[in-house]
This record gives sequence, structure tokens and C-alpha cells, in this order.
Amino acid sequence: MVKMNLKEHDMFEPPEDFVKQANMNDPDIYQRAEEDFEGFWEKLAENVDWYNRWDNVLEWNPPYSKWFVGGRLNASYNCLDRHIEKRSDKIAILWEGETGDVQTYTYLELLDATSRFANALKGLGVKKGDIVSIYLPMIPEAVIAMLACARIGAPHSVVFSAFSADALAQRINDPASKYLITCDGYYRRGNVIEHKGKTDEGLDKAESIEKVVVVKHAGNDVTMQDGRDVWWHDIVESANISCEPEVMDSEDMLFLMYTSGTTGKPKGVVHTTGGYMVGTTVTANWVFDLKEDDIYWCTADVGWITGHSYIVYGPLSNGATVLMYEGAPDYPDKDKIWEIVEKHSVTIFYTAPTAVRMFMKWGSQWPGMHDLSTIRLIGSVGEPINPKAWLWYHETIGNGRCPLVDTWWQTETGMALLTPLPGITSLKPGSVTRPFPGVKVAVLDNAGNEVPRGEGGFLALLAPWPSMIRTVYKNEQRYLDTYWSKWGTGKYLSGDGARQDEDGYFWILGRVDDVIKVAGHRLGTMELESALVSHPSVAEAAVVGMSDEIKGEVIFCYVTPKLGAIESEELKDELSKYIVKMIGPIARPEGIIFADELPKTRSGKIMRRILKAIADGKEVGDITTLQNPEVVEILEKKVKEEVAH
Ligand code: WT7
Repeated sequence: MVKMNLKEHDMFEPPEDFVKQANMNDPDIYQRAEEDFEGFWEKLAENVDWYNRWDNVLEWNPPYSKWFVGGRLNASYNCLDRHIEKRSDKIAILWEGETGDVQTYTYLELLDATSRFANALKGLGVKKGDIVSIYLPMIPEAVIAMLACARIGAPHSVVFSAFSADALAQRINDPASKYLITCDGYYRRGNVIEHKGKTDEGLDKAESIEKVVVVKHAGNDVTMQDGRDVWWHDIVESANISCEPEVMDSEDMLFLMYTSGTTGKPKGVVHTTGGYMVGTTVTANWVFDLKEDDIYWCTADVGWITGHSYIVYGPLSNGATVLMYEGAPDYPDKDKIWEIVEKHSVTIFYTAPTAVRMFMKWGSQWPGMHDLSTIRLIGSVGEPINPKAWLWYHETIGNGRCPLVDTWWQTETGMALLTPLPGITSLKPGSVTRPFPGVKVAVLDNAGNEVPRGEGGFLALLAPWPSMIRTVYKNEQRYLDTYWSKWGTGKYLSGDGARQDEDGYFWILGRVDDVIKVAGHRLGTMELESALVSHPSVAEAAVVGMSDEIKGEVIFCYVTPKLGAIESEELKDELSKYIVKMIGPIARPEGIIFADELPKTRSGKIMRRILKAIADGKEVGDITTLQNPEVVEILEKKVKEEVAH
């Protein structure tokens, strides 16, 4: 095979041998989707098994969509039962623990474990429609718990395991869930993280919970509360091994996923069953080109949407072998990821740009220690990948010959919407290329008009797609305000800036709202600010995303202390710990500075744009609209002292 030495402005054409075998290699697919939108999606819905076929493909009353209306199905049936005939002994989950132990579940074993746990949940009183919170790290039980919920029609709400006790409580209280699934502990860099202790702390502030199921994983000591807490292994032991999947309506809720927005409170994104299963099943098949003998590894955590769509539902619905890894990428050493790739002959590898930039910084010697020749496709998600990192990833991990799929999507979109199809699309380093067939995307200006090619604007979606958010849980207004109010109800505001180049390729410019992406993790600046101002020493706070070479963005805080509070390094330290306690380690600030005053407009609005420029060490631009322009210089000086640019 010819190895290409790709450069920044080169195009990477899909290699001929890849094209030949690709699940989707017909370039006319875009045209066909264009010509018959509903017919296109209707055909794709046949990739999912239904108990009852739908009556209508789509009911679109902007901004409300219903897909495959009248159709009935079960997500866990699609991920498990339907594979049993052909794949009962095929490995579904290939799990590696941080300590190197491996657990596998064949499709039959995963079905049995899911059915047993589904029955156990029923035994605890869980009924169709009840929301079950799941607070588990990267262990097989996380997948089993999700599928068990789906099996009995109880929507799950997975909370990322590294979120703090307070963040957990908030995400339990919003839907008032009565059931929680957690574990004793898990391994991180050789230590046992006491997860149950943190769970208990959160539960002190979450009164709706009636039953807690605890997975015994790390074996650390835990306190079990009588009448509330039960061990997973105890309740499954006596549970029946067969559980008929609940027949769900296409529009029944499959899960809730909390994500950060532009207010202080995370929002519960509602996903339903039919459209979500169609969207994730088909994108997993076409974008990752999943084949029977692939070993597929998505390094995301199940606690995020990427884990839901592309560790659990999409790949398992395709009958794939999915690798899961419990630990950190640099423990015990910086070749851990590549050791796993070699050990398990991984063929498809999907990760985040932050990770790629970190690998690049660590150096090519680490992947160089291992045989990565089994890899045939690589992917990227979560934030923009800069051309330099793209090229390194393509060359060093993809050996210069693998298609690299940079997939743009969101918690709200459920499935990848802007993405190459690896057997069709020529790639440009740093571009998410074009919309998935049947997806209508445009770059708009403030007024909702399309901007000319080459110019930046707001990334918008102009037509519904099957796996789209249906509403914000118990907050219809927020659904309307956040996504559908800028230009009227037919155009979805993504929150990202983008540009289309002369070839029509899309380039994502990053968030244009108060959401920041720290190492690919989504955080709301308002969420961080409300955490800060809840501290007794803080009068006012403004948080911005400061550009960072590896993490994309890091958290930078401007804090006005209350009268009498002492502006000390100790207070900074305390505030940093406080944010971590309120949200989790992903929210640890990179820098905090004290500001007697924040730059404000005459109407009193804090100018975050200026604060971001100051944090980035850039020109602040026009400050004539400020009521207190003199603070800019003061803050610039302070920031210079805090961070060496
Ligand atoms: C935001 C959504 C998509 C699942 C993981 C993140 C950013 C996502 C890309 C990409 C540039 C990207 C956007 C988006 N984003 N993928 N390929 N290129 N930016 O889901 O936590 O809901 O975050 O992530 O800013 O709006 P999320």
C-alpha cells in the first residue's frame, strides 16, 4: 500500500481497497436522500427490528418532531436478542480493567445478564416510565444497567462517575428519580476511588431515592444503608434469566442525559426510542464501517452521549465487539492505550482531539512500541481537531492509510450529523467535511440568512433528524428558548460557530455561547459561576474558557471577593477545591484572579468577550461601550502575573 505524506492543505482520498469493502460507498446516496427525504429515512429504519411497523415516517410540527410514528420496538432487543441466532458466542463486550484483568460477555451472556438485572430491577419496584439514575464508572455493569432499563421501558439517566456528590444530587433531584445504580469503587492510576462514599454524600441531598443498587467492583469497604441499599450480585442471583422486552412506542423516552447549557442548571435532554435507534444504528454502520470481525474501541466514558450512542446503542445494535477500558491512558505508562490496541487487535479507534494532542505531546515513541497495524479506521469527536493534530493522528496512529472520520454532533443530536463517510468522502485535515445524507445543515448570520462560503456564522440545522432531542425534561420553555428561538421554530441553533469553504466543506469554529469545552468535556460558564458565587467569600464571578494547546480550552475565573474577604493564595486554593467539590475534577480552574471590578457595559452586563481576550493574552478590541474601561488594563496586568503566556 502506498503511504502518503499528507500535508495541511492536501486531501486524503479514500483508499481504493477501503472503498471496495466499505458498508457505504455509493456517492449517489447524498442525492437520493435529497430527492426523497422521508423515503430515505424510512429505508434506513429497516436496519432496526420492529414489533410493529410505523404508520408515518415523520410528523414535523416545528420544533416538535415524531419519527416512525406508531412503530413499536425495544432498544435492548435490538442490541441483544436479535443477534442471538447468528452471534450468540460472539463477544459483545470486551472489558479491560486497569489492573489488566479482562472480562468478556458474549451476546448470549450479555442478554442473560441484562435480563436478570432487568428482572431484579422489577423486583425492586421499577416500572415502565420510572427514571433510573445510573452512576457507574467504565465497567460492564454500566452497559448492562442501561440495557436492562431499556428492556423494561424505564428511561435511564446516566451521571458521569467523576461528577461530584453535589452534581449527582442535582441530576437526581431534577427528575426526582427513585432508583440509583452505583458501585463500591473503581481503579484510577493504581488507587481505589471510593465511589460509594461519594454516592452517599450525594444521596444526603437527594431525597427522592428509595433504592440503591451497588455493584461490588473494587472490593473496598462501604456502608450499606438498611432498607435502601442492595448489592447487585444479591438481587441478580435470585432473578429469572429470561425477561420479555417491553414493547415500546417509537416516541417513548429511551433516556435522559443531563448536559450543560448557558444557565446555571444542566438540562435534561430527552431522547426517544425509534428515531434514536435508527440514527445511531445507521451512523455506527456507515461512519465506523462496522464489520463482523471488527474490534471497535471508543475511548469515551459511558457517562456522556458519545458513550451512549457509540459504545452502547449504535455498535451493539450492529452486533459489534466493543472494547471498554476502565483506567487512565497514562497508567502505568504512556503506552497503555497502544498496549491495549495491540493486545486486543483493535481495528477501529474513536477518541477525542484532547487525547490526540496529549499523545502527540508525549511523543511517537509510545505508539511506536506497539503493533498498531490492525487499525483500519480512526475517528475524532468532541471539539475541533486542529490540522496539526489531525495529521499526527492520521500518520502515527492511522499509519497514513486509514480514513479519519471527524464527527460533529452533540448530546442533543444523538447521532453524528457532520461527518465523512469513509468509503466516499475525501478528507481535509481539520474539517468535519459534510452533512450525513438526509441531514440539512447551514451556516447562518444573525438574521437567519446563509452566509457566503468562506465566512463564519452560526451552525444551524434546517430539517429534523431521527435522533434529535425531543424536549428538555420538564422544561418545555427551555427547549424552545435554547434551540428554536433565534430564527423561528424551523431552524435549530447548535451553539457552534462554523464556516463552509469553497468546496462546501464545513469547519467547526467552536462554541459561540456560554458553553465551554474543557478537554472535550462540556461545561457551562454560568454553572461554574453559580458554583463560585455560592461560596461565602465571593461577591461576583465571571468564568471564561482560556485557549489551551492540549485541552482546547481551560477554565479561567475572575472573582470579586466579598468585602472583608482576604485576597490570598489560600482563598484561590479554597475556591478551586470548592468548584471541584460542587462539580467534579473536570471543572478544576486553571487560573483564578481577584478583580475588584469586572468590565461591564453601561447596562451592567459583564463583558465575557473581553475577559476571554484578556485570559488569552489577546488584544481586547473596542472597549468604548464599557462603563469602566480602566479595569481592562488592571486585569491584563494581573492575568500576566498569573499565567505566563
Ligand atoms: C459540542 C457538543 C458529540 C459528542 C460529544 C460531545 C463540540 C463535538 C465536534 C467535532 C468540533 C465538536 C461542539 C458541540 N464538538 N464534536 N467533531 N468538531 N467540535 O457532545 O458534550 O454535547 O458537546 O462539542 O462544540 O456543540 P457534547
